[in-house]
Amino acid sequence: MSDLAVDVKDVKYVYPDGCVALDSVDIRVVRGERVAILGPNGAGKSTLLMLIDGLYRPSKGSVHVLGMPTNGNTHKVRMKVGLVFQDPNDQLFCPTLWEDVAFGPLNMGLDEEEVTRRAEDALKAVGLYGLKDKAPHHLSAGEKKKATIASVLAMNPEVLVLDEPTANLDSKSRIELIGLINNLHRRQRITLVVATHDLDFIPMVADRAYVLNRGHVVAEGALEDVFSDSKVMEESGLEPPTLTKLFDLLNRFTGFDAVKPLPLTIDQALHEIRHYLAKSRLEPQVRRAVPKES
Ligand SMILES: Nc1ncnc2c1ncn2[C@@H]1O[C@H](COP(=O)(O)OP(=O)(O)OP(=O)(O)O)[C@@H](O)[C@H]1O
Ligand SMILES: [Mg+2]
Repeated sequence: MSDLAVDVKDVKYVYPDGCVALDSVDIRVVRGERVAILGPNGAGKSTLLMLIDGLYRPSKGSVHVLGMPTNGNTHKVRMKVGLVFQDPNDQLFCPTLWEDVAFGPLNMGLDEEEVTRRAEDALKAVGLYGLKDKAPHHLSAGEKKKATIASVLAMNPEVLVLDEPTANLDSKSRIELIGLINNLHRRQRITLVVATHDLDFIPMVADRAYVLNRGHVVAEGALEDVFSDSKVMEESGLEPPTLTKLFDLLNRFTGFDAVKPLPLTIDQALHEIRHYLAKSRLEPQVRRAVPKES
């Protein structure tokens, strides 16, 4: 069994109008990994995710998911890969939310009891169970995004592919989504591929990143390394997470000891601040005032 969840080899993708959306793209994601796809508007992120889900076929090169070529049995690939589209309107098409979420499990040939259980669990997981009888086109933008996430969760995918999952979510829903994704990752070792511009969100759901720009992979590596590469970040029009920028400034312009790698999350930042205070001559009560990591 291949230990690669996603293997994109030398892929080119040309849209029918001649637009070359991806060229010479190589991406490998090991089973159970959490990987981010970053890049500016038009970089090719959504196109790449469509290829991973088998919805598009590469013009050149190959895409394998869990060892299966995506240009073979696409039904089998889509049973294993759950893609949350960037635009929920492309994904929700049934008269009611319940039918939309039940559609995937029904299509998998599961019995009625299992379909009901899965649809109910998925809708409860995103907090939309109370709206199950509503028409999807009457949902708010954030509710639509949650509905698409539920419709994918109901299929119990091995590879979860999310395109701009935090778009239109309020901060509480964003935090709940982070918890939900990480629970799935911890409990089921689900593989995560997340495309986003929300760089403050990424450290909480990914460990490694690929940066796409104009259809090419321009950087790849641990988040800390990618975010510290100011040339790549600038050229790709990406802003590092707020915390990373703050600690970079502290390193450069204050007596703060050089913190390397730069913290990406609140927990890492608190750890560094406590470490700094412990080394400084500040009174113990000041040090105690800094909360421990959560
Ligand atoms: N259906 C299409 N037909 C022709 N060209 C397309 C089509 N869809 C996307 N493109 C083009 O392909 C390129 C990559 O688009 P894609 O949607 O993959 O970018 P993206 O990185 O997801 O951007 P965003 O951050 O705006 O979501 C863009 O130049 C876009 O104009
Ligand atoms: Mg996109």
